[in-house]
Order: sequence, then C-alpha cells, then structure tokens
Amino acid sequence: MLKGRRILLIVTGGIAAFKSLELVRQIRTAGGEVRAILTKSATEFVTPLSLQALTEDRVYSDIFSLTDESEMGHIQLSRNSDLIVVAPATANFLAKMRLGICDDLASTVVLATDKPVVVAPAMNVRMWDHAATQENIITLKDRNIKFIGPNEGEMACGEYGLGRMSEPTEIVNAIQSILQPNRPLLGKTALVTAGPTREPIDPVRFIANRSSGKQGYSIAEALAAAGAETTLITGPTNLPVPSGMRVLKVETADEMLAHCMESLPVDIAVCAAAVADWKVANKSDQKIKKQKNINCENLSLSQNPDILKTLSNADNNRPDLVIGFAAETEDILHNGIRKQKEKNCDWILANDVAMGTQTFGGDNNTIHFVSKKGTEEWPVMKKEDVAKYLAKKIIDEIGRV
Ligand SMILES: Cc1cc2nc3c(=O)[nH]c(=O)nc-3n(C[C@H](O)[C@H](O)[C@H](O)COP(=O)(O)O)c2cc1C
Repeated sequence: MLKGRRILLIVTGGIAAFKSLELVRQIRTAGGEVRAILTKSATEFVTPLSLQALTEDRVYSDIFSLTDESEMGHIQLSRNSDLIVVAPATANFLAKMRLGICDDLASTVVLATDKPVVVAPAMNVRMWDHAATQENIITLKDRNIKFIGPNEGEMACGEYGLGRMSEPTEIVNAIQSILQPNRPLLGKTALVTAGPTREPIDPVRFIANRSSGKQGYSIAEALAAAGAETTLITGPTNLPVPSGMRVLKVETADEMLAHCMESLPVDIAVCAAAVADWKVANKSDQKIKKQKNINCENLSLSQNPDILKTLSNADNNRPDLVIGFAAETEDILHNGIRKQKEKNCDWILANDVAMGTQTFGGDNNTIHFVSKKGTEEWPVMKKEDVAKYLAKKIIDEIGRV
C-alpha cells in the first residue's frame, strides 16, 4: 500500500513516543520506507537504538553532527522523502513550527521542506486546550499542515480528555490518503471477518476449524489498499497483524457478531470467517476431568448466531454490499446458490474445502461466484489474487450503488 514510499518520521518528546515504534512497524508492513529523526527530548522516551533496529537505518538527531551534514544534511533528509510525519508532536514542537523556529534538526527539517507534513499531536488535555496551542493549530492548518487527532481518552497523567495520540493505524491511513489520493474506495467503509472461531468446551478446550484466515486477511488488505476505511474482525490465526486498518481480535462467534454490529454502518461487509455453526451450551467453568469419562451426550450444542444472515438483514444499517463465503465439501455451486438466497446476501464466494483441496490453510482458492444475476467460475488463484479480483468487482459494483 505504501510500496516504495519514503516516510520521514519525526519523534518529539512526549509520553506517546513509544507508539512511534508501532507506527514504524505498520508503515514498513505496508511497504513504506522509514527514516527517523528524534528530538533531544524524544531520546528520553525512546532510544535511538530501538528506532534504528525497526527502521533498519541510522537515526538522525543532531544538526551539528558533521557526519549527518556531510552524508545527508537537513535539506537532503527532506528532499529524500515523500512525506514527513511528526508523531507524537509535542505542544512545544507545534509552537516552534508555527513560529518557524529551527533550533534543532527536527524543526529545521520541517521548515526546510516542501513535502506534505502530517502531525499527530499528543499532550495533556490542558496543554491542548490552551489558547496558545489552539492558535498554533489554526495557523498550522491554514498552512496546509494535516492534523491527525488527537483522540479523546484516559491520559498517562491520569486526566481524561482530548490529547491522546491517534493510533498508528489512523496515522498510516492518513499517510495513504495523502500519498494516494485517487484510490477508488476512498470515503467508503468496509468490514471483513476472517479466521476460525473458537467455541469453548471448558477453560482449556474448544471446538474450532482449520481456517487459517489467509483469505479474509488478503481481502481486508485489498480493500484497505483501494482506500476503504477497513475493520478486520478476526478469530485466532497465526498471521501477522496487517497495517492500515482497525483490527479486532475475537474468539467466539458471539463476540464476532457483537463487533460486527458495533462496526455498522459500513458500505461493504465481507464475511470470510469460518464461523463455527455450533457452540457448547453447557460449557464448564472448570476443566472437565478425564476420569469423568465424558461422552458426546454430555456435551450439549446450540446453534451459533448467523453473522452473514444478520448483516444481510440488518434493518436500517444493512451494508450496501454484503458478501459471504460458502465453504462446502460437495455440490459446491448449488450449495452456494442456495446459501445466497437463504441468507439474503448480495454475493457468495463458494469454495471447495474438502480434504485434499488444501483450501483451508493453503495459499490457493477456487471460487464459484454467485450473485443475484448469475454465477461465474473463477480459475484457481492465489488467495491474494482472489482478494484483488474481488476488490475490483466491489469497486465496479459500489460505483453503481
Ligand atoms: C515525563 C514527561 C512527559 C511529557 N509528555 C509530554 C507530552 O505528552 N506532550 C507534550 O507536548 N509535552 C510533553 N512533555 C514536555 C516535553 O517533553 C517538553 O516540552 C520538551 O521541551 C519537548 O521537546 P521537543 O518538542 O523538542 O521534543 C513531557 C515531559 C515529561 C518530563
């Protein structure tokens, strides 16, 4: 999503500086390159070594370091980047930016740049509310400095209010919308479910399935790359947390449904999770002992909520496009057609998950596509390519909604 894009990250001296480490990880996961500058105060909160390890580059801090100036120079640092992000941005740094004070490397670079500058302020609520800070913000916004946050919430100082730094995901999204302003799903929202669910039998055992989450994660990534503000609701998987989207981790179908409903309204919903059809109605609070010789009759199962059907029939909040998967082991197409009608969703991607197909856990997928208009047979594709193909279909469709 940020492939080949060079982001210059300036970390200033606030308590939220630790979040800049996760920001670096997310920018790099999205394909971007990061070069970091720390103010002197920032080095009290994060070490240059941590940033150096995460950026896999040296970290800049001192404007009067001869090597900095001979090898790179403050002008080059700005020239060699596509965008500058200040995260966290202290009240002090915003004040310096407004006045054009350049008494260290970080402030000199932001004065010397003609690249887009994004700031993610973080400070105590009173510092944020102070007339001086508010005036600085108005002036900086007038100069086209893009502000992300701050968010409202509990602060490290124990107070509550506006001043928390935006989450790295929000900052990555903002960077993407500046660097790729013409993405086709910008302004749209998407919800994707992925992975298996786990239905507890007792505190240590559960019912689950073989879903790896790969297909759902790829779809969430393809939609986010196309500009949709994406929420991924995922059951337990071994996949790395993707960047540029909100990720909510759940275990059970009930939790997945609750997060789906909380995420509404959205424009697009893709239910790719392999949600367990049943849960254990009489789950035990204590570990069931082996000697009790449990047999199937002791386990009573009840039906789980039908997330796809619930979203497809959500009264006021029905997404414009509701897409489901049908994991089948026989009569794939007919089961897909039946499922699409039964659930009242717009599209079904039916796939063969029989033993030996390697669909669950594997890298490829063969899709039988079902819509209200008819069916299509897609060739065998890598799951990433299925995701991109689906995203393209969504882009074509959503333009007409
Ligand atoms: C423990 C501690 C936490 C601080 N947290 C913040 C903060 O979250 N936001 C802020 O604007 N200043 C904060 N400050 C004050 C800044 O560190 C101080 O204004 C400093 O001069 C900022 O320098 P810089 O803008 O060059 O990084 C904090 C100071 C201390 C000692």
